[in-house]
Amino acid sequence: LELQLNLEEIEKGGYDHFMLKEIYEQPRAIKDTYRGRLLADQGIIRMAGIDQNLEKFLNANRIIIVACGTSWHAGLVAEYIFEDLARIPVEVEYASEFRYRNPVITENDILIAISQSGETADTLAAIKMAKERGAFVFGVCNVVGSSIARETDAGAYTHAGPEIGVASTKAFTTQITVLTLIALKLAKEKGTIEESKYHEYLVELEGIPAKVERTLKTNPLIEEIAEVYKDSSNCLYLGRGYNFPVALEGALKLKEISYIHAEGYPAAEMKHGPIALIDEEMPVVVIATRKGHYEKVVSNVQEIKSRSGKIIAVVTEGDQQVTDLADHVVEVPETSETLTPLLTTIPLQLLSYHIALMRGCNVDQPRNLAKSVTVE
Ligand code: AGP
Repeated sequence: LELQLNLEEIEKGGYDHFMLKEIYEQPRAIKDTYRGRLLADQGIIRMAGIDQNLEKFLNANRIIIVACGTSWHAGLVAEYIFEDLARIPVEVEYASEFRYRNPVITENDILIAISQSGETADTLAAIKMAKERGAFVFGVCNVVGSSIARETDAGAYTHAGPEIGVASTKAFTTQITVLTLIALKLAKEKGTIEESKYHEYLVELEGIPAKVERTLKTNPLIEEIAEVYKDSSNCLYLGRGYNFPVALEGALKLKEISYIHAEGYPAAEMKHGPIALIDEEMPVVVIATRKGHYEKVVSNVQEIKSRSGKIIAVVTEGDQQVTDLADHVVEVPETSETLTPLLTTIPLQLLSYHIALMRGCNVDQPRNLAKSVTVE
């Protein structure tokens, strides 16, 4: 047993938990994921799985993204990126719903399946059904040679390294990295993005690991915030645009490892009902970065404050307006709106980690959960 414990300690690399190690591995994981693919100084994105099937992608009527859980959230971010940059219609489906609802699929559809483990039963079943109906299937997996990687017609691996913590962290940011590379590549090929903007994105993406590193330095502040809210019974996460899927992801992290009921919502939807939930007992995490409907989010924050909701705001460095309104402020470096999720997710991962720890929860193996849901 002694040897076993020592082995685990070595595998944790000195971190108390695999989840914390994997949160801190994200700068390296993102870099490993774009290495060899992102050649910013040459203005090239090289991805064999796309290059060999370029015509299919350029002529596709639609991209259907299927996934579960955190991977589904990465799919939502991809929907915004693909439609915004490459102008290709995208729909994102829960694999478990898609496989049973008799969807319309044609051979002009491309299905992108996102799965860290590459073994999720619902995602695998959705792939098989889509292939039977003629779709071309592209996989984004983190485990080489996994069932999904073998079932798909082509794919691109994330190079996050083994993700042991049940709560997915580095898989999420590396999935977004791969999907951003694909969207930028297709946008360039389709001419839906200006040359100068394209180059800006490549350089900005290359600089993301350093900005993730900087964001990780908010950890002590996040720990203080966690101390204040660790006994909450509920929590709301709000975001707009690219940060709406991040709000969903932040809520899922908190639910699955601290067992606090948390819900992610599009910030503007609050006035259609959920704002009735707000009182001084309801902490609200608001992602309010500079780029992306900032003024609208400011008014959402004011609405919450006027109902004495407690506000934890994730803002861009140097922010003023939301900072003046919020009870707690976490700053992330400025980046392009499209790449914001790669940074705004980090504080939410750390917040759920610290709150779960303070509640005595098993962070790496939360109750009732498995790392890969290989059964229906
Ligand atoms: C996320 O933190 C969970 N571990 C879970 O939702 C996970 O994302 C989901 O089961 C999908 O797993 P996959 O990416 O391996 O397919």
